[in-house]
Amino acid sequence: MKRILIGSLLYITAICLPQESAPITDDPWDLDGPCQKYVEKFAVVQSEMVACATNWSIPPKVCTNCYNNYRDFKLYEYETKHLDTVYSLDNRTCSQVIYDNYLLSYSSDISTALTAKIWEKSRCDSCVTLTWDFPHNKSDVAFTQRTLQFQNLLYEWRNCVVNYTSILDDDVDQRNNGSKLCSLCKTPFDELYAYYWKIYTTPDVDFCVDVETTMNDTIHLWDDVWKCAEKQDRNRDLAGIMITFATLVLLTALFYAASYIQGGGQTRNLVRYSRLSDPRGQRSRLLSSGMSDADLVHRALPAQGPSSSAYDVPIHQTR
Ligand SMILES: *[C@@H]1O[C@H](CO)[C@@H](O)[C@H](O)[C@H]1NC(C)=O
Ligand SMILES: *[C@@H]1O[C@H](CO)[C@@H](O)[C@H](O)[C@H]1NC(C)=O
Ligand SMILES: *[C@@H]1O[C@H](CO)[C@@H](O)[C@H](O)[C@H]1NC(C)=O
Ligand SMILES: *[C@@H]1O[C@H](CO)[C@@H](O)[C@H](O)[C@H]1NC(C)=O
Ligand SMILES: *[C@@H]1O[C@H](CO)[C@@H](O)[C@H](O)[C@H]1NC(C)=O
Ligand SMILES: *[C@@H]1O[C@H](CO)[C@@H](O)[C@H](O)[C@H]1NC(C)=O
Repeated sequence: MKRILIGSLLYITAICLPQESAPITDDPWDLDGPCQKYVEKFAVVQSEMVACATNWSIPPKVCTNCYNNYRDFKLYEYETKHLDTVYSLDNRTCSQVIYDNYLLSYSSDISTALTAKIWEKSRCDSCVTLTWDFPHNKSDVAFTQRTLQFQNLLYEWRNCVVNYTSILDDDVDQRNNGSKLCSLCKTPFDELYAYYWKIYTTPDVDFCVDVETTMNDTIHLWDDVWKCAEKQDRNRDLAGIMITFATLVLLTALFYAASYIQGGGQTRNLVRYSRLSDPRGQRSRLLSSGMSDADLVHRALPAQGPSSSAYDVPIHQTR
Protein backbone atom coordinates (compact mmCIF):
# COMPACT_ATOMS: atom_id res chain seq x y z
CA MET A 1 0.00 0.00 0.00
CA LYS A 2 2.81 2.36 1.00
CA ARG A 3 4.72 1.44 -2.09
CA ILE A 4 1.78 2.20 -4.35
CA LEU A 5 1.31 5.60 -2.73
CA ILE A 6 4.96 6.52 -3.15
CA GLY A 7 4.89 5.21 -6.68
CA SER A 8 1.92 7.31 -7.71
CA LEU A 9 3.39 10.34 -5.92
CA LEU A 10 6.59 10.00 -7.97
CA TYR A 11 4.52 9.58 -11.09
CA ILE A 12 2.52 12.75 -10.43
CA THR A 13 5.62 14.83 -9.72
CA ALA A 14 7.20 13.50 -12.89
CA ILE A 15 4.17 14.66 -14.90
CA CYS A 16 3.84 18.04 -13.19
CA LEU A 17 7.50 19.09 -13.38
CA PRO A 18 8.20 21.09 -16.54
CA GLN A 19 9.96 19.04 -19.22
CA GLU A 20 13.58 20.08 -19.42
CA SER A 21 14.51 20.76 -23.00
CA ALA A 22 17.74 19.41 -24.39
CA PRO A 23 20.46 21.94 -23.65
CA ILE A 24 22.03 22.57 -27.04
CA THR A 25 19.27 23.25 -29.56
CA ASP A 26 18.03 26.80 -29.15
CA ASP A 27 18.16 28.70 -32.38
CA PRO A 28 19.46 32.16 -31.45
CA TRP A 29 22.45 30.54 -29.87
CA ASP A 30 23.10 28.29 -32.80
CA LEU A 31 26.34 29.36 -34.36
CA ASP A 32 25.55 27.35 -37.49
CA GLY A 33 21.88 28.31 -37.70
CA PRO A 34 21.99 29.54 -41.32
CA CYS A 35 23.42 26.20 -42.46
CA GLN A 36 20.88 24.06 -40.69
CA LYS A 37 18.35 23.87 -43.52
CA TYR A 38 20.96 22.51 -45.94
CA VAL A 39 21.90 19.80 -43.52
CA GLU A 40 18.24 18.92 -43.09
CA LYS A 41 17.73 18.50 -46.82
CA PHE A 42 20.94 16.52 -47.04
CA ALA A 43 19.58 14.23 -44.34
CA VAL A 44 16.48 13.58 -46.42
CA VAL A 45 18.30 12.61 -49.63
CA GLN A 46 20.80 10.49 -47.72
CA SER A 47 18.13 8.66 -45.80
CA GLU A 48 16.15 7.96 -48.95
CA MET A 49 19.22 6.33 -50.44
CA VAL A 50 19.81 4.36 -47.25
CA ALA A 51 16.20 3.19 -47.15
CA CYS A 52 16.35 2.08 -50.77
CA ALA A 53 19.63 0.23 -50.33
CA THR A 54 18.44 -1.61 -47.25
CA ASN A 55 15.13 -2.43 -48.85
CA TRP A 56 16.90 -3.95 -51.83
CA SER A 57 19.54 -5.81 -49.85
CA ILE A 58 18.32 -9.40 -50.15
CA PRO A 59 19.48 -9.95 -52.79
CA PRO A 60 21.61 -6.80 -53.17
CA LYS A 61 20.21 -4.95 -56.16
CA VAL A 62 21.01 -1.31 -55.56
CA CYS A 63 22.25 -0.34 -59.01
CA THR A 64 19.08 -1.09 -60.90
CA ASN A 65 16.64 -0.02 -58.20
CA CYS A 66 18.22 2.92 -56.40
CA TYR A 67 19.94 4.85 -59.17
CA ASN A 68 17.44 7.70 -58.83
CA ASN A 69 18.05 8.01 -55.11
CA TYR A 70 21.77 7.79 -55.67
CA ARG A 71 21.61 10.51 -58.30
CA ASP A 72 19.64 12.87 -56.06
CA PHE A 73 22.00 12.19 -53.20
CA LYS A 74 25.12 12.82 -55.27
CA LEU A 75 23.73 16.03 -56.77
CA TYR A 76 22.86 17.35 -53.39
CA GLU A 77 26.18 16.30 -51.96
CA TYR A 78 27.80 18.45 -54.63
CA GLU A 79 25.66 21.35 -53.52
CA THR A 80 26.63 20.98 -49.87
CA LYS A 81 30.25 21.06 -50.93
CA HIS A 82 29.71 24.33 -52.77
CA LEU A 83 27.77 26.37 -50.24
CA ASP A 84 30.30 29.17 -50.60
CA THR A 85 27.90 32.07 -50.31
CA VAL A 86 26.07 31.04 -47.15
CA TYR A 87 27.74 31.78 -43.86
CA SER A 88 27.50 30.73 -40.28
CA LEU A 89 27.43 33.40 -37.56
CA ASP A 90 31.21 33.41 -37.38
CA ASN A 91 31.54 33.96 -41.14
CA ARG A 92 32.59 30.49 -42.14
CA THR A 93 30.99 29.07 -45.26
CA CYS A 94 28.41 26.38 -44.68
CA SER A 95 30.52 23.91 -46.65
CA GLN A 96 33.32 24.45 -44.16
CA VAL A 97 30.88 24.07 -41.31
CA ILE A 98 29.45 20.83 -42.65
CA TYR A 99 32.70 19.15 -43.63
CA ASP A 100 35.57 20.67 -41.65
CA ASN A 101 34.39 22.48 -38.57
CA TYR A 102 34.02 19.60 -36.19
CA LEU A 103 35.85 16.55 -35.10
CA LEU A 104 33.23 14.34 -36.72
CA SER A 105 31.10 14.91 -39.76
CA TYR A 106 28.33 12.34 -39.74
CA SER A 107 26.97 13.50 -43.04
CA SER A 108 30.36 13.14 -44.65
CA ASP A 109 30.89 9.66 -43.20
CA ILE A 110 27.50 8.54 -44.38
CA SER A 111 28.17 9.95 -47.85
CA THR A 112 31.42 8.04 -48.01
CA ALA A 113 29.73 4.83 -46.98
CA LEU A 114 26.95 5.23 -49.53
CA THR A 115 29.40 5.96 -52.31
CA ALA A 116 32.23 3.55 -51.58
CA LYS A 117 30.60 0.75 -49.60
CA ILE A 118 27.35 0.53 -51.48
CA TRP A 119 27.47 2.03 -54.95
CA GLU A 120 31.07 1.28 -55.90
CA LYS A 121 31.24 -2.05 -54.14
CA SER A 122 28.23 -3.17 -56.14
CA ARG A 123 30.19 -2.26 -59.29
CA CYS A 124 27.19 -0.26 -60.46
CA ASP A 125 29.21 1.38 -63.22
CA SER A 126 29.10 -1.95 -65.05
CA CYS A 127 25.34 -1.79 -65.32
CA VAL A 128 24.24 1.82 -65.24
CA THR A 129 26.10 4.87 -66.47
CA LEU A 130 25.41 8.17 -64.77
CA THR A 131 26.63 11.19 -66.69
CA TRP A 132 27.07 14.03 -64.28
CA ASP A 133 26.52 17.71 -64.84
CA PHE A 134 26.85 18.84 -61.26
CA PRO A 135 26.88 22.63 -61.74
CA HIS A 136 23.55 22.46 -63.54
CA ASN A 137 22.06 20.00 -61.07
CA LYS A 138 21.56 17.42 -63.82
CA SER A 139 22.49 13.85 -64.56
CA ASP A 140 21.62 11.39 -67.31
CA VAL A 141 21.00 7.73 -66.63
CA ALA A 142 21.72 4.99 -69.16
CA PHE A 143 21.80 1.23 -68.70
CA THR A 144 24.60 -0.60 -70.45
CA GLN A 145 23.70 -2.73 -73.44
CA ARG A 146 24.73 -6.00 -71.83
CA THR A 147 22.49 -5.31 -68.85
CA LEU A 148 19.50 -4.72 -71.11
CA GLN A 149 20.31 -7.86 -73.08
CA PHE A 150 20.54 -9.87 -69.88
CA GLN A 151 17.21 -8.49 -68.77
CA ASN A 152 15.59 -9.40 -72.08
CA LEU A 153 16.79 -12.98 -71.80
CA LEU A 154 15.73 -13.14 -68.17
CA TYR A 155 12.23 -11.94 -69.05
CA GLU A 156 12.01 -14.40 -71.91
CA TRP A 157 12.72 -17.26 -69.55
CA ARG A 158 10.33 -15.90 -66.92
CA ASN A 159 7.62 -15.50 -69.51
CA CYS A 160 8.08 -19.07 -70.55
CA VAL A 161 7.76 -20.24 -66.95
CA VAL A 162 4.70 -18.07 -66.36
CA ASN A 163 3.05 -19.24 -69.57
CA TYR A 164 3.52 -22.91 -68.86
CA THR A 165 2.81 -22.62 -65.16
CA SER A 166 -0.66 -21.30 -65.97
CA ILE A 167 -1.20 -24.09 -68.47
CA LEU A 168 0.11 -26.79 -66.15
CA ASP A 169 -1.89 -25.38 -63.24
CA ASP A 170 -5.10 -26.33 -65.03
CA ASP A 171 -3.95 -29.92 -64.92
CA VAL A 172 -3.89 -31.01 -61.28
CA ASP A 173 -1.62 -33.99 -61.98
CA GLN A 174 1.02 -31.82 -63.54
CA ARG A 175 1.10 -29.21 -60.79
CA ASN A 176 4.41 -29.15 -58.95
CA ASN A 177 5.75 -31.60 -61.45
CA GLY A 178 8.89 -29.63 -62.20
CA SER A 179 10.26 -31.91 -64.85
CA LYS A 180 7.71 -30.86 -67.44
CA LEU A 181 8.44 -27.18 -66.86
CA CYS A 182 12.14 -27.93 -66.92
CA SER A 183 12.08 -29.44 -70.36
CA LEU A 184 9.65 -26.86 -71.76
CA CYS A 185 11.70 -23.87 -70.62
CA LYS A 186 15.15 -25.35 -70.88
CA THR A 187 16.01 -23.45 -74.06
CA PRO A 188 15.42 -19.93 -72.71
CA PHE A 189 17.23 -20.88 -69.53
CA ASP A 190 20.24 -22.19 -71.42
CA GLU A 191 20.32 -19.05 -73.55
CA LEU A 192 20.23 -16.88 -70.44
CA TYR A 193 22.98 -18.87 -68.81
CA ALA A 194 25.12 -18.91 -71.94
CA TYR A 195 24.88 -15.14 -72.29
CA TYR A 196 25.77 -14.61 -68.66
CA TRP A 197 28.66 -17.03 -68.90
CA LYS A 198 29.97 -15.32 -72.02
CA ILE A 199 30.13 -11.94 -70.30
CA TYR A 200 31.41 -13.45 -67.08
CA THR A 201 34.37 -15.07 -68.79
CA THR A 202 35.25 -12.09 -70.97
CA PRO A 203 38.15 -10.23 -69.41
CA ASP A 204 37.58 -6.57 -68.51
CA VAL A 205 33.83 -6.85 -69.05
CA ASP A 206 31.79 -7.19 -65.96
CA PHE A 207 28.29 -7.25 -64.59
CA CYS A 208 27.25 -5.36 -61.49
CA VAL A 209 26.29 -7.26 -58.37
CA ASP A 210 22.60 -6.91 -59.25
CA VAL A 211 22.97 -9.12 -62.29
CA GLU A 212 25.24 -11.60 -60.56
CA THR A 213 22.86 -12.12 -57.68
CA THR A 214 19.90 -12.34 -60.01
CA MET A 215 21.65 -15.05 -62.01
CA ASN A 216 22.71 -16.79 -58.82
CA ASP A 217 19.20 -16.88 -57.45
CA THR A 218 17.83 -17.94 -60.82
CA ILE A 219 20.19 -20.90 -60.90
CA HIS A 220 19.26 -21.87 -57.35
CA LEU A 221 15.58 -21.67 -58.21
CA TRP A 222 16.04 -23.77 -61.32
CA ASP A 223 18.44 -26.31 -59.83
CA ASP A 224 17.49 -26.62 -56.18
CA VAL A 225 13.85 -25.59 -55.94
CA TRP A 226 12.46 -26.91 -59.19
CA LYS A 227 15.08 -29.67 -59.40
CA CYS A 228 15.65 -29.03 -63.08
CA ALA A 229 19.36 -29.80 -62.80
CA GLU A 230 18.87 -33.39 -61.66
CA LYS A 231 17.18 -34.33 -64.85
CA GLN A 232 19.86 -32.69 -66.91
CA ASP A 233 22.52 -34.37 -64.78
CA ARG A 234 20.99 -37.71 -65.56
CA ASN A 235 21.02 -36.88 -69.24
CA ARG A 236 24.62 -35.85 -69.00
CA ASP A 237 25.49 -39.05 -67.15
CA LEU A 238 23.77 -41.02 -69.84
CA ALA A 239 25.74 -39.16 -72.49
CA GLY A 240 28.91 -39.86 -70.53
CA ILE A 241 28.15 -43.56 -70.41
CA MET A 242 27.39 -43.63 -74.12
CA ILE A 243 30.63 -41.86 -74.98
CA THR A 244 32.68 -44.11 -72.74
CA PHE A 245 31.02 -47.18 -74.19
CA ALA A 246 31.58 -46.01 -77.76
CA THR A 247 35.21 -45.26 -76.99
CA LEU A 248 35.71 -48.70 -75.52
CA VAL A 249 34.10 -50.36 -78.53
CA LEU A 250 36.27 -48.32 -80.87
CA LEU A 251 39.45 -49.11 -78.94
CA THR A 252 38.60 -52.80 -78.88
CA ALA A 253 37.90 -52.77 -82.60
CA LEU A 254 41.18 -50.97 -83.26
CA PHE A 255 43.03 -53.45 -81.07
CA TYR A 256 41.65 -56.42 -82.96
CA ALA A 257 42.17 -54.72 -86.31
CA ALA A 258 45.78 -53.99 -85.40
CA SER A 259 46.47 -57.48 -84.18
CA TYR A 260 44.76 -58.88 -87.29
CA ILE A 261 46.99 -56.79 -89.55
CA GLN A 262 50.13 -57.65 -87.59
CA GLY A 263 49.06 -61.14 -86.89
CA GLY A 264 49.26 -62.38 -90.52
CA GLY A 265 53.04 -62.96 -90.45
CA GLN A 266 53.40 -63.84 -86.83
CA THR A 267 51.19 -66.82 -86.27
CA ARG A 268 54.21 -69.08 -86.34
CA ASN A 269 56.05 -66.99 -83.76
CA LEU A 270 53.08 -67.05 -81.47
CA VAL A 271 52.84 -70.77 -81.80
CA ARG A 272 56.53 -71.14 -81.06
CA TYR A 273 56.31 -68.85 -78.03
CA SER A 274 53.33 -70.69 -76.72
CA ARG A 275 55.41 -73.83 -76.80
CA LEU A 276 58.36 -72.20 -75.07
CA SER A 277 56.79 -70.30 -72.22
CA ASP A 278 53.85 -70.58 -69.91
CA PRO A 279 51.13 -68.43 -71.47
CA ARG A 280 49.47 -67.81 -68.18
CA GLY A 281 51.80 -64.90 -67.35
CA GLN A 282 50.86 -63.08 -70.55
CA ARG A 283 47.21 -63.72 -70.19
CA SER A 284 47.03 -62.61 -66.59
CA ARG A 285 48.77 -59.36 -67.44
CA LEU A 286 46.26 -58.73 -70.21
CA LEU A 287 43.46 -59.59 -67.85
CA SER A 288 44.65 -57.31 -65.10
CA SER A 289 45.06 -54.36 -67.42
CA GLY A 290 41.54 -54.99 -68.67
CA MET A 291 40.30 -55.09 -65.10
CA SER A 292 41.88 -51.82 -64.12
CA ASP A 293 40.40 -50.13 -67.17
CA ALA A 294 36.96 -51.35 -66.23
CA ASP A 295 37.53 -50.22 -62.66
CA LEU A 296 38.41 -46.77 -63.87
CA VAL A 297 35.20 -46.53 -65.86
CA HIS A 298 33.18 -47.69 -62.88
CA ARG A 299 34.84 -45.27 -60.55
CA ALA A 300 34.70 -42.29 -62.88
CA LEU A 301 30.97 -42.43 -63.38
CA PRO A 302 29.58 -42.03 -59.84
CA ALA A 303 32.14 -39.33 -59.16
CA GLN A 304 30.36 -36.90 -61.48
CA GLY A 305 27.09 -37.83 -59.86
CA PRO A 306 24.10 -35.67 -58.90
CA SER A 307 25.92 -33.68 -56.23
CA SER A 308 27.60 -31.54 -58.87
CA SER A 309 25.43 -28.96 -60.53
CA ALA A 310 24.81 -29.09 -64.23
CA TYR A 311 25.97 -25.50 -64.35
CA ASP A 312 29.37 -25.83 -62.81
CA VAL A 313 32.34 -25.00 -64.93
CA PRO A 314 31.97 -27.42 -67.79
CA ILE A 315 34.44 -30.27 -67.54
CA HIS A 316 35.42 -31.94 -70.77
CA GLN A 317 36.01 -35.64 -70.42
CA THR A 318 38.96 -36.62 -72.52
CA ARG A 319 38.44 -40.33 -72.55
C1 LIG B 1 11.19 -2.58 -51.44
O1 LIG B 1 11.44 -3.80 -52.12
C2 LIG B 1 10.29 -4.46 -52.64
C3 LIG B 1 10.74 -5.73 -53.32
O2 LIG B 1 11.86 -6.28 -52.75
C4 LIG B 1 9.56 -3.55 -53.60
O3 LIG B 1 8.38 -4.20 -54.05
C5 LIG B 1 9.21 -2.24 -52.91
O4 LIG B 1 8.62 -1.36 -53.84
C6 LIG B 1 10.47 -1.61 -52.36
N1 LIG B 1 10.12 -0.41 -51.64
C7 LIG B 1 10.79 0.72 -51.85
C8 LIG B 1 10.34 1.89 -51.02
O5 LIG B 1 11.68 0.82 -52.67
C1 LIG C 1 31.16 38.70 -41.07
O1 LIG C 1 31.21 39.38 -42.32
C2 LIG C 1 30.38 40.54 -42.37
C3 LIG C 1 30.47 41.13 -43.75
O2 LIG C 1 31.19 40.37 -44.62
C4 LIG C 1 30.84 41.52 -41.33
O3 LIG C 1 30.00 42.65 -41.32
C5 LIG C 1 30.80 40.86 -39.96
O4 LIG C 1 31.36 41.73 -38.99
C6 LIG C 1 31.62 39.59 -39.95
N1 LIG C 1 31.45 38.91 -38.67
C7 LIG C 1 32.45 38.32 -38.02
C8 LIG C 1 32.10 37.65 -36.73
O5 LIG C 1 33.56 38.25 -38.48
C1 LIG D 1 18.13 19.79 -58.31
O1 LIG D 1 17.20 18.96 -58.99
C2 LIG D 1 16.30 18.26 -58.16
C3 LIG D 1 15.41 17.43 -59.04
O2 LIG D 1 16.12 16.88 -60.09
C4 LIG D 1 15.49 19.24 -57.32
O3 LIG D 1 14.65 18.52 -56.45
C5 LIG D 1 16.44 20.12 -56.52
O4 LIG D 1 15.71 21.09 -55.80
C6 LIG D 1 17.41 20.81 -57.45
N1 LIG D 1 18.35 21.56 -56.66
C7 LIG D 1 18.66 22.81 -56.98
C8 LIG D 1 19.64 23.46 -56.10
O5 LIG D 1 18.17 23.39 -57.92
C1 LIG E 1 3.55 -16.57 -73.57
O1 LIG E 1 2.20 -16.41 -73.98
C2 LIG E 1 1.96 -15.22 -74.69
C3 LIG E 1 0.47 -15.11 -74.95
O2 LIG E 1 -0.16 -16.31 -74.82
C4 LIG E 1 2.77 -15.26 -75.99
O3 LIG E 1 2.57 -14.06 -76.70
C5 LIG E 1 4.23 -15.42 -75.67
O4 LIG E 1 4.98 -15.55 -76.87
C6 LIG E 1 4.46 -16.62 -74.79
N1 LIG E 1 5.85 -16.63 -74.41
C7 LIG E 1 6.58 -17.75 -74.36
C8 LIG E 1 7.98 -17.57 -73.95
O5 LIG E 1 6.13 -18.83 -74.62
C1 LIG F 1 6.01 -35.64 -64.11
O1 LIG F 1 5.88 -35.59 -65.52
C2 LIG F 1 6.67 -36.57 -66.18
C3 LIG F 1 6.54 -36.34 -67.69
O2 LIG F 1 5.46 -35.58 -68.01
C4 LIG F 1 6.18 -37.95 -65.75
O3 LIG F 1 6.98 -38.95 -66.39
C5 LIG F 1 6.30 -38.09 -64.25
O4 LIG F 1 5.77 -39.32 -63.83
C6 LIG F 1 5.54 -36.95 -63.54
N1 LIG F 1 5.81 -37.04 -62.13
C7 LIG F 1 4.86 -36.81 -61.21
C8 LIG F 1 5.28 -36.91 -59.79
O5 LIG F 1 3.71 -36.51 -61.53
C1 LIG G 1 26.03 -17.13 -55.25
O1 LIG G 1 25.60 -18.09 -54.31
C2 LIG G 1 26.64 -18.75 -53.60
C3 LIG G 1 26.03 -19.78 -52.68
O2 LIG G 1 24.69 -19.57 -52.44
C4 LIG G 1 27.45 -17.72 -52.83
O3 LIG G 1 28.53 -18.36 -52.18
C5 LIG G 1 28.00 -16.67 -53.79
O4 LIG G 1 28.68 -15.67 -53.08
C6 LIG G 1 26.85 -16.05 -54.55
N1 LIG G 1 27.37 -15.10 -55.52
C7 LIG G 1 26.91 -13.85 -55.62
C8 LIG G 1 27.54 -13.00 -56.66
O5 LIG G 1 26.02 -13.42 -54.89
